[in-house]
Amino acid sequence: MSAPRDAERVAVIGSGSIGVAFAIVFARAGFRVALHDPVPDARARAEAELAERLALLAEAGLLPEPPAAVAARVRSSSALEDAVAGCALVQECAPEQRELKREIFGRIAAAAPPDAVLASSSSAIPPSELAADLAEEAAARLVVGHPGNPPYLLPVVELVPSPRTGAAAVARARALYERAGLRVVELRREVEGFVFNRLQGALLREAYCLVRDGVVDVAGVDEIVRSGLGRRWSVIGPFETSDLNVRGGIAAHAERMGDAYARMGAERGQQDPWTPDLVAEVAAQRRAILPLERWDERVRWRDRRLTALAAVWDGAAVDGGAA
Ligand SMILES: NC(=O)c1ccc[n+]([C@@H]2O[C@H](COP(=O)([O-])OP(=O)(O)OC[C@H]3O[C@@H](n4cnc5c(N)ncnc54)[C@H](O)[C@@H]3O)[C@@H](O)[C@H]2O)c1
Repeated sequence: MSAPRDAERVAVIGSGSIGVAFAIVFARAGFRVALHDPVPDARARAEAELAERLALLAEAGLLPEPPAAVAARVRSSSALEDAVAGCALVQECAPEQRELKREIFGRIAAAAPPDAVLASSSSAIPPSELAADLAEEAAARLVVGHPGNPPYLLPVVELVPSPRTGAAAVARARALYERAGLRVVELRREVEGFVFNRLQGALLREAYCLVRDGVVDVAGVDEIVRSGLGRRWSVIGPFETSDLNVRGGIAAHAERMGDAYARMGAERGQQDPWTPDLVAEVAAQRRAILPLERWDERVRWRDRRLTALAAVWDGAAVDGGAA
C-alpha cells in the first residue's frame, strides 16, 4: 500500500458500523476525518471499534503505517456543524430513516462549505428523496455513496445521483472516493435498491423460492454460493463469468443458455428474455473490454486467481481452520 497523501478533510455523520468503517477508509488514505454522533456513549464505542478494526488490518499487513497514526487523523466532534466545517465531503451514516436523514441533510447543507459533496450511505433511500427539502444548489451536490459492508474490506461504492445532482458533484465525489482507495460504480439514474441490493435481491428471491419448494435447504444454498458462485464472483462478475464459460464469449453463451434461463425466469413469473438486441449490446461491451483474441489468456488469468484463492482458503488452516 502506498503512503498516505496530503490531508484533506471529510466529515462522517453517525459513528455506527458504517460510519466507523468509512472513517477507517478515509483516514487510512490520509484524509483528516471529523466523526460526529449525537448519542452519548457513541464516542467511546466508536473509538474502541476504530482501534480494534485498525489493529486487525495492521495484523494483516493492510495498513500503510501504525494503527495509532491512522487513528490520530480521526477526531470526534460533538456538534454536527463543527464536524462539517471546512470539509470536502460529508459522508452521512445515520440510521436508515427517511425523515431523520432529510433533517440531517438540511443541517449539513447549512453548515458545510458551499462546494462540499453531500453523500449518504443509505442502502435504499433514493437521493431525490434525501434532497427533497434542499435548495437547488445543495441538491446539486447530493449523491448516495452506497458502500459494501465493511468498506475498508469491500472496496466498492455505488455512486447514485438524483435528477437534481450536477455532473460536477458526481465527478468530485468520484475523485474523492478513488483517492480513498474505493472503486466507484456510477449509476446513470436512481432506481430502488440501487444495483448492489438489486443483484443481491435477485439471488435471495430465488434462494427463498428454492427452500420453499423443498429443492434444497438453507445450508445447501449457502454452500453453493460460498464454495462455487461466490468464490468465482470474487474474481470476476456474472457477465465475465458467462463470457469465459463458453468459447466464443457471451454471445455464444446466450445462444446456448438463453432459452433455459428464460424458462427459469418464466417459472417465477418474470418475462425478461435476453433479446438479440440486448445480447448484442452486452456482447459489444464485453468485446470492448476483452477482444476474443485475448479470451484464452483471460481464462488462464481467472484460473490463476482462483488457484491463489484456493491456496488461501483450502490450503493451510486459516483463522483456526475451516469454517
Ligand atoms: N450495515 C450495513 O450493512 C450497511 C451497508 C451499506 C449501507 N448502510 C447504510 O449506512 C447507514 C448507517 O448504517 P449502520 O449499519 O452503520 O447503522 P448503525 O445503527 O450501526 O449506526 C447508526 C449510527 O447513527 C447514530 N445516530 C443516531 N441518530 C443520529 C443523528 N441524528 N445524527 C447522526 N447520527 C445519528 C447512532 O448513534 C449510530 O451510531 C444506513 O443508512 C444504512 O442503510 C448499512
